[in-house]
Amino acid sequence: MSTTYHRSWAEPYKIKMVELLKMTTRGQRLRAIKEAGFNTFLLKSEDVYIDLLTDSGTSAMSDRQWAGLMMGDEAYAGSRNFYRLEKAVQQYYGYKYLIPTHQGRGAENIISKILIKPGDVIPGNMYFTTTRLHQELAGGTFADIIIDEAHDPVSEHPFKGNVDFDKLDRIVKQYGASKIPYISIATNVNMAGGQPISMANLRELREYTHQHGIRVIHDMTRVAENAYFIQQREEGFKKRHIRDIVKEICSYTDGATMSAKKDALVNIGGFLATNEWDVFEEARNMVVVYEGLHTYGGLAGRDMEAMAIGIEESLDDNHMHARVGQVEYLGHKMESFDIPIVRPVGGHGIFVDARRFLPHLTQDEFPAQTLAAEVYLESGIRTMERGIVSAGRNADGENYYPKLELVRFTIPRRVYTQAHMDVVAEATQVVLKRRNRIKGMKMVYEPKYLRFFQARFERL
Ligand code: F0G
Repeated sequence: MSTTYHRSWAEPYKIKMVELLKMTTRGQRLRAIKEAGFNTFLLKSEDVYIDLLTDSGTSAMSDRQWAGLMMGDEAYAGSRNFYRLEKAVQQYYGYKYLIPTHQGRGAENIISKILIKPGDVIPGNMYFTTTRLHQELAGGTFADIIIDEAHDPVSEHPFKGNVDFDKLDRIVKQYGASKIPYISIATNVNMAGGQPISMANLRELREYTHQHGIRVIHDMTRVAENAYFIQQREEGFKKRHIRDIVKEICSYTDGATMSAKKDALVNIGGFLATNEWDVFEEARNMVVVYEGLHTYGGLAGRDMEAMAIGIEESLDDNHMHARVGQVEYLGHKMESFDIPIVRPVGGHGIFVDARRFLPHLTQDEFPAQTLAAEVYLESGIRTMERGIVSAGRNADGENYYPKLELVRFTIPRRVYTQAHMDVVAEATQVVLKRRNRIKGMKMVYEPKYLRFFQARFERL
């Protein structure tokens, strides 16, 4: 008889302070979700038990980061913390020039305004809501060049974030390189379910873009999670450290936008980084208009200090193992309950496939929006729609109909325990058991931009 030993992961930290949670009754939750127009973004946080809305700005800072807040140099210009952050970005990511911004979309706004001219096309490995909107507002059109497997929730492809070079080449031939200001490459593609791009694919992209004289701008919001998957899955990376892998990823790109609210473990902050002096100069002019002086970009000195420390902590191998290990734990638990989820399990959350969960609803009845509302009602767990509502409308006002109709159970970093994950999986299982009685919804209020944030719904 052979015995196999399973070695568990455990958190490489211990808890020093706790935040008490409010438990609610079903009656209270029904009132709350109705008041919120069945949109989990409009719920009051106080009415939420386990908050899996997003991993953005919701992670727990370390004692070192909290101590860093006290070291804030709140000078208007030339804060010490700016230089510390600049050094961290250069050292760990390898980009030359840094422009801090209040968060990721601040950087997206600036880079889009600088590089995109009306009529341009921006190929990318799947859209992200704010990223695409800034490209469109600058007069560009986004073109999806991710491999087909990324749109298939049951494909087991280990690198669903990869670029499909046939798709890219078709666009380059059709429009010409002069109409393509850059290729927009996200690491650990959010909308695909937190799926990584491989190093081999990035290397090939670098070669291709050098041949054609096209830039690569890197949405590095979850670059460390991507590096973890490369370490685990890609040939030749088992013994490499996350920090080395991250630096190599960045080396194949010309600049980056970062929402530091994710991987970099801060509650607010972001930046634009570039290796090009001209782009930097232009960005330094523009940041003053939209964010603040180029040495603070909308952040307090203490925020930049916490970010510099968070960047370093995010690249620790043990941290990443526990971070993604917790997400995988929830994924496996859900699968053992036959809850349909996107495979393979991604880096920042579990994406439940609402099409398979509620097969009796059409996409116009908002299956993912409906499921998110039901999960809240069941248990006080807050999740997010990532389907037709998030996809929005194109320039002609027509709805995008994305293939993926998902509910994202996003896990904040270093915040919840394994027992919380058990409660989440069990609550979702209860909803699954009564799914046949769940009806869809209609949208009764639709905002013009990024409608998922504020849209309101009613039950059919
Ligand atoms: N890029 C990606 C891949 C993101 O996931 C986000 C934010 C941004 C850019 C924008 O950054 O919020 O700092 O302005 N994603 C959050 C989420 C909102 O919940 O996925 P931001």
